[in-house]
Amino acid sequence: MSDSTPSRKRSKWDDDEEEPYVAVAPPSKRRSKPKATPESADATPPPQQSTTRQSLHSRYVPPRTHHPPILPSRSVYCYERLNQIEEGSYGVVFRARDKQTGDIVALKKLKLDEEKNGFPITALREVNALMTCRHENVVGIREVVVGDTLTQVFVVMDFIEHDLKSLLHLMPSPFLQSEIKTLMLQLLSAVGHCHANWILHRDLKTSNLLMNNRGTIKVADFGLARRYGDPVGVGGMTQLVVTLWYRAPEILLGATTYSTAVDMWSVGCIFAELILKEPLFQAKGEIELLAMIFKLLGAPTSNSWPEYSTLPLAKTISLPSPQPHQLRQKFPYLTAAGIDLLLSFLAYDPDRRITAEDALQHPYFTESPLPKHPDLFGSFPSAAAGEKCVHLKDPT
Ligand SMILES: Nc1ncnc2c1ncn2[C@@H]1O[C@H](COP(=O)(O)OP(=O)(O)O)[C@@H](O)[C@H]1O
Ligand SMILES: [Mg+2]
Repeated sequence: MSDSTPSRKRSKWDDDEEEPYVAVAPPSKRRSKPKATPESADATPPPQQSTTRQSLHSRYVPPRTHHPPILPSRSVYCYERLNQIEEGSYGVVFRARDKQTGDIVALKKLKLDEEKNGFPITALREVNALMTCRHENVVGIREVVVGDTLTQVFVVMDFIEHDLKSLLHLMPSPFLQSEIKTLMLQLLSAVGHCHANWILHRDLKTSNLLMNNRGTIKVADFGLARRYGDPVGVGGMTQLVVTLWYRAPEILLGATTYSTAVDMWSVGCIFAELILKEPLFQAKGEIELLAMIFKLLGAPTSNSWPEYSTLPLAKTISLPSPQPHQLRQKFPYLTAAGIDLLLSFLAYDPDRRITAEDALQHPYFTESPLPKHPDLFGSFPSAAAGEKCVHLKDPT
């Protein structure tokens, strides 16, 4: 099979039975000359020479049950490779079947090949964030598995049929307002949960939002996620975050500290994209993006964004004259409450930008049409599972 596991020599990973755990006694440090005073002998008794497992531990090593539950990673050969879903910026994603349970999963191969300084921090952050942020609307991480070499490390996740970017592209017509409300409530609930757990996602966009055929969104790709709230080192936080079109203005203007509000700007861009069925700001570069933002929202003023002039790149930008926002023209069918929510996501001042928690309470979600129950969402053929459907193809 050409698309299954690459050909390789048979290795120990082919064995079906797992090797039984073998307890290894900690190396006993022999003292060259044991001090024979009775006091010191009492203080550090030598490990007892007994045949039971328990006795292999010195009194200073807690028994294994007291350790955190760290188990060795299983092998990637516990999974049968089905097809490649996509090659992203940090790894390749495969669809696979768990040989034991038959479950269909997604395996993301982490890119470690060029790494010279040990296991990359991005990969550690990704695994850590996924484990910290477990939630109904965050993609479920199952385990981390390893291949034959040190560069083969895979994150095993639940397989989700679609990503929202591909789905929006394939759908013949946009989501209904009632559906958009459901999706936004799920997204906000997931983002609020991450923020409550001190995790910034930093790359929210439609290709990182997965959706299953039961109307449920799962936030994925925590490859750029990091903890916030910790003291920030010299040089601040990296500005190389968030895919351009979804990047908040404070990052574009060189802010070296930023927080949860960067994710909320991206959420606003996603909200707009769900309505428009195409990305809101499709700019080629940062300057063009700022110009597009200023055109849609009106240029920032000392009133709407008091800290603007203190940002590193503010002086290099010549602001257009202030004008009212153009959202009404761009979103003619959105209600006043919808426009208000969108404006709250796209507030210039990060301190005034709405939080996920507050957005969940916004009147937009309680006015008619009400959010649609996820069970009532239509299902679509999954491109990631290799399913094809001719009538969904873009006619152009
Ligand atoms: N759990 C999953 N189930 C199905 N498809 C997935 C899953 N995770 C990722 N994908 C697909 O793979 C693509 C790339 O994965 P992602 O985690 O975003 O990697 P990258 O960091 O390289 O962008 C996604 O846009 C999505 O299409
Ligand atoms: Mg991605």
